[in-house]
Amino acid sequence: MACEAVLGDRSLVAGDAMIAAHFDLLPTARAASQARGLVAEALGRRTAPAGAAELTDTAQLLVSELVTNGLMHARTELHLGISGDTQTLLFTVADGHPDAPDLSPGVPADFDYEESGRGMAIVVALASDFGWRRREDGAGKVMWFTLSLPTNENASAPVESPA
Ligand SMILES: Nc1ncnc2c1ncn2[C@@H]1O[C@H](COP(=O)(O)OP(=O)(O)OP(=O)(O)O)[C@@H](O)[C@H]1O
Ligand SMILES: [Mg+2]
Repeated sequence: MACEAVLGDRSLVAGDAMIAAHFDLLPTARAASQARGLVAEALGRRTAPAGAAELTDTAQLLVSELVTNGLMHARTELHLGISGDTQTLLFTVADGHPDAPDLSPGVPADFDYEESGRGMAIVVALASDFGWRRREDGAGKVMWFTLSLPTNENASAPVESPA
């Protein structure tokens, strides 16, 4: 599984994973909205810390960017992975295209946000950490990002599931 390779690198999930969900996505126009729904469902039905609603918004936005990139640039079937423990959530989007994403650091002063090239800048700005690696089977790559869960005294407060 694509995200397990990333997890192995990062020792992210300690003990039993609080969240572990995996989905295959066909490269159709519905994939990004489907992915946003899967993120909401995976995060919303679990017991999660206070502040998780905002976190879910961010997760949906960033997953949407990576899935859209998969559709636009890789044009292959995609695999979405959602994993997490009590401190960190890990999201992976695997595709079957060998080309590396363009992760040029920084945003030029004259950057035109009306044009393309915003997606990875948004991921860099909002994720706690992000990266990519080639798949071990050689059949493409895995884009990933993490979000840190808020820690406070309400850390085990239940969050309402989406309707
Ligand atoms: N999954 C991918 N496979 C191959 N190349 C990718 C992938 N994701 C991103 N890239 C490359 O990295 C570049 C930067 O991606 P980014 O999401 O920032 O911009 P964009 O997709 O071109 O435009 P926008 O996201 O603003 O609509 C892309 O133009 C593309 O060349
Ligand atoms: Mg993009």
